[in-house]
Amino acid sequence: MSAINTGDLFTVEGHGVIVTGGASGIGLGYVEALAGKGARVTIFDIDPRRIEAEVGRLRAAGLDVAGQVLDVTDHAALETAVDSVADHYARLDAVFANAGIDSGPGFLTGWAGEDRPRAPEGELERYTDQRWNRVIEVNLNGVFATVRAASRHMKVQRRGRIVLTTSLAGRRVEPAIGSAYMAAKAGAAHFMRCAALELAAYGVTVNAIAPGFIVTNIGGGHAKAAAVQQRMARAIPLGRVGLPADLHGLALFFASAASSYVTGQEIVVDGGWGLG
Ligand SMILES: NC(=O)c1ccc[n+]([C@@H]2O[C@H](COP(=O)([O-])OP(=O)(O)OC[C@H]3O[C@@H](n4cnc5c(N)ncnc54)[C@H](O)[C@@H]3O)[C@@H](O)[C@H]2O)c1
Repeated sequence: MSAINTGDLFTVEGHGVIVTGGASGIGLGYVEALAGKGARVTIFDIDPRRIEAEVGRLRAAGLDVAGQVLDVTDHAALETAVDSVADHYARLDAVFANAGIDSGPGFLTGWAGEDRPRAPEGELERYTDQRWNRVIEVNLNGVFATVRAASRHMKVQRRGRIVLTTSLAGRRVEPAIGSAYMAAKAGAAHFMRCAALELAAYGVTVNAIAPGFIVTNIGGGHAKAAAVQQRMARAIPLGRVGLPADLHGLALFFASAASSYVTGQEIVVDGGWGLG
């Protein structure tokens, strides 16, 4: 029997990777996890200031990271950008469809605990078309366009990894978040399964990471408030809020050979918050 060698399972050295929304929070965590293991990573993000700061910081640390200002709602620009990154790397190993926005207040305020008054501005009868459409445009249509652009390359090369960032809120209603967010994330999760089934014949896997409560800049960085974190820590079985680094392991798993036989799966990373 040959010796078992699991040493290369999580290798992403030299891989060509794109992360949308990679200049902050969870996406930036993916960038750090993959570039830290030798991948060549390009960030697509709408925030030029953050791109410049983070790309500068990571390059100074010796990582092969680049950035491009790009809005995932501009599907034509997205396709051109994916083409040029794939050409530049002469390969496209993994694409993270991660860019997303908060949808403003839901019908309850606060994140956890018993004192959660209703928020009239978040209730359904006041929910504007504009607000609904914007969230669907970024969090669902932007994911569709990213996966489509990635599939055009990966299908031809007959390999690739596509990873979506969905949410616990796509599986369980979280009243503090507006309903468009939940609809978009649930839609993205099922679209992920659909794309996984279609692309499996070409050796391309499509999976999703569904975070719980992670401290990032989303929604103006509300998760950074100490009082919010303390309240959440009491509600989360593992006893603390999540950080982007808590997603590093799963990002490497889905991007590497370690997940070769896994497709169409959404894995929740929430410290047990969704358990009840
Ligand atoms: N933070 C959480 O608790 C949490 C939980 C579940 C899911 N998520 C999801 O994680 C993903 C990342 O969010 P985050 O929490 O890291 O937030 P974040 O605000 O820290 O980072 C999001 C990044 O996406 C960029 N972005 C926004 N709209 C864009 C667009 N149209 N085109 C390109 N880039 C765009 C922003 O500039 C920002 O850099 C989102 O899809 C979000 O819905 C977050």
